[in-house]
Amino acid sequence: MKSSGHEKTAIVDEAITSRKSVRAFLPTPVDDRTICDILEVAARAPSGTNMQPWKVYVVKGNRKQELSDAILNSGVRAEKAAWDEYKYYPDQFFEPYLSRRRAVGFALYGLLGIGKRETDRMREQHDRNFVFFDAPVGLIFTIDRRLNMGSWVDHGMFLQSIMVAARARGLHTCPQAAFAPYHRQIRPVLDIPDEEIVVCGMALGHEDTTKPENTLRSEREPIEAFVTFVK
Ligand SMILES: Cc1cc2nc3c(=O)[nH]c(=O)nc-3n(C[C@H](O)[C@H](O)[C@H](O)COP(=O)(O)O)c2cc1C
Repeated sequence: MKSSGHEKTAIVDEAITSRKSVRAFLPTPVDDRTICDILEVAARAPSGTNMQPWKVYVVKGNRKQELSDAILNSGVRAEKAAWDEYKYYPDQFFEPYLSRRRAVGFALYGLLGIGKRETDRMREQHDRNFVFFDAPVGLIFTIDRRLNMGSWVDHGMFLQSIMVAARARGLHTCPQAAFAPYHRQIRPVLDIPDEEIVVCGMALGHEDTTKPENTLRSEREPIEAFVTFVK
């Protein structure tokens, strides 16, 4: 049966708005067919002159463990890992971005009962990135380093499409820039050639709804804050 216009709106909007960064997953497996379906749908994302500038490495089970171990046993602490391939964040945060960043950080740590000075617990929480928050599937995204900023825009649309397609299948995700500074540890495990920049990782799986970190609903500015109707 065909869904009506209204139903379609509701379904698409729900897939987009129910996406959130999930930071605790159940061990429930996700089969390769489902992963391939999501990636096939997401690859319908647009890209300038249809260049499709994305690459994805999928890890599960032992391979995922190997990747986690390579990072966590590297002895390279998060604050020392180098953003030497590309910079996701500005060197110096400034308003209004600084406040937004702080708000989501405090909200997350608040839910986890981590106090402002508990740096060890903050680090432990950060390290949960490297086990993909226990998700059964880890994705590592790369892009050809010869490409320009436009292709990074395209890459972002691909990422979002994966996250939305995952929602359509009852799955959740967390995009993870935390992986990028560890490209040296990641490359040998996944056999990633030097021509590719590690853009980010992504956890994919079923949400553990019992965990407080997953109750986080990050804020958004009202549209008046970023929209100008030029009349
Ligand atoms: C490209 C990208 C990288 C991100 N990297 C991380 C990360 O390394 N670890 C993490 O916990 N969240 C990460 N996030 C999630 C953001 O913190 C999150 O999207 C933001 O706070 C808004 O919350 P929401 O995704 O729940 O709507 C990343 C998001 C994006 C888009």
